[in-house]
Amino acid sequence: MKSRTEIKDVLKAPALGSAVLVKGWVRAFRNNRFIALNDGSTPHNLQVVVDADKLPEGILRKINFHACIAAKGTLAESLGSGQAVELVADEVHILGECNPEEYPLQPKRQTMEFLRTKAHFRPRTNTFGAVFRIRHAVAYAIHKYYNDLGFYYLHSPIITGSDAEGAGEMFRVTTLDLNHLPRTESGEIDWKEDFFGRSTNLTVSGQLQAEIGALALGKVYTFGPTFRAENSNTPRHLAEFWMIEPEMAFYDIYDNMDLAEDFCKYLIRYVLEYYADDLAVLDARLREEEKNLPADKRRPMGLLEQLHFVVDNNFERITYTEAIRLLQNSKPYKKGQFEFPVEWGRDLQAEHERYLVEKEFKKPVIVRNYPQAIKAFYMRLNDPHPDEPGCTVAAMDVLFPGIGEVIGGSQREERHDVLLQRIREVGIPEEELWWYLELRKFGGAPHAGFGLGFERMVQFITGMGNIRDVIPFPRTPKNAEF
Ligand code: 4AD
Ligand code: MG
Repeated sequence: MKSRTEIKDVLKAPALGSAVLVKGWVRAFRNNRFIALNDGSTPHNLQVVVDADKLPEGILRKINFHACIAAKGTLAESLGSGQAVELVADEVHILGECNPEEYPLQPKRQTMEFLRTKAHFRPRTNTFGAVFRIRHAVAYAIHKYYNDLGFYYLHSPIITGSDAEGAGEMFRVTTLDLNHLPRTESGEIDWKEDFFGRSTNLTVSGQLQAEIGALALGKVYTFGPTFRAENSNTPRHLAEFWMIEPEMAFYDIYDNMDLAEDFCKYLIRYVLEYYADDLAVLDARLREEEKNLPADKRRPMGLLEQLHFVVDNNFERITYTEAIRLLQNSKPYKKGQFEFPVEWGRDLQAEHERYLVEKEFKKPVIVRNYPQAIKAFYMRLNDPHPDEPGCTVAAMDVLFPGIGEVIGGSQREERHDVLLQRIREVGIPEEELWWYLELRKFGGAPHAGFGLGFERMVQFITGMGNIRDVIPFPRTPKNAEF
């Protein structure tokens, strides 16, 4: 018998009495008799029963926490509680020893901060196994969702020359010798000498290229890594994160909101339907964590409750101007409990977003029509409105409980002259965006799109408190280990 059976399959349809070979990592070894074995295919362990008298002494000593073993034997009904079947082993082989004196992990609860320093071993824990299986599930569901709706997956470049968000938070890409930089006659760095013959950076968003796709293929989406050199050490920010950016010709801001809501619900429903076992692991973890927190630090909802909060509610839709009015009339505002000011023209902070979702509406909220001054140059300028003290653009942010913004998007400015004027106002060099402007000159169309922060969504679905714990190898300020 050569081929191994995965533990997920052993447990799904146990063929009692049949011979089976399993391979995996030891999660526990009790009484020199019961091994809890996990191979990553499921959160559940298989109980492997060994007869210590029959095993060579050399092997018994090596059945340690997180050692890798192969076990061959017969599947039998289990008399112990907690499992229906067990493997009665007649052979055990050590594939990879794990000396408990030297191994950095211990068979006990360890903090997330500690496990981050052991990113090469943390996927072997129950929590991270569940997180990374769900991360995979969400990625798969994203492709399935858009494929089923007739979107095309467009690969936007990782190295670009443009700053899509105009926020100047880019990582430079260069092959120039930093100790001997070529200079122009006026003394500036001569980027013409660089690899691409121009200044380049890692992309902050695939949107501008997705617009090219939408104005030819109709409906496209990008799904790739994006990079932001913002120095934000928060539980919701990464310097390298993945973004999904659908972009649709002929959509306006309302079509855009409909798609965003349907998309969020689909992803969460998918995980609820197919990954209930992993969710149960994470739900239990969260309960345990919450128990140790003071009451005012606890979350408004449990994990499954928070997922149903999104799936079972219609998202509330309000304008930015209405949001400001609601916030200014709110209790925390009047009692001076918000840290940041609430004033027309200022951006909403996470505390304001969470108030709207968790207290005011008790459902996810989509805020639209933000002041032009606080949003990116490409958003479509709205007609003036008597209630609004300044210009607004057709922007939209989708807000969730706990984490605030998961999606940011807009209808795009398709009018060439309006766009050109905006580009000049904000001071972006026109020649960098010549092709973007030409899209408005030749066969342009109204269009819209948005970006979902992949890790923010995975964070929400898994209930993890820190975004660094939902990506295998987090990149944050002063941290690029592994
Ligand atoms: O709101 P943002 O900046 O929008 C864009 O980049 C647009 N180009 C999207 C589009 O219209 N095609 O980013 C979109 C989402 C945010 O809502 C947030 O969920 C996530 O990306 N995000 C981050 N996630 C983790 N770490 C960061 N530093 C993030 N910055 C944004
Ligand atoms: Mg945003």
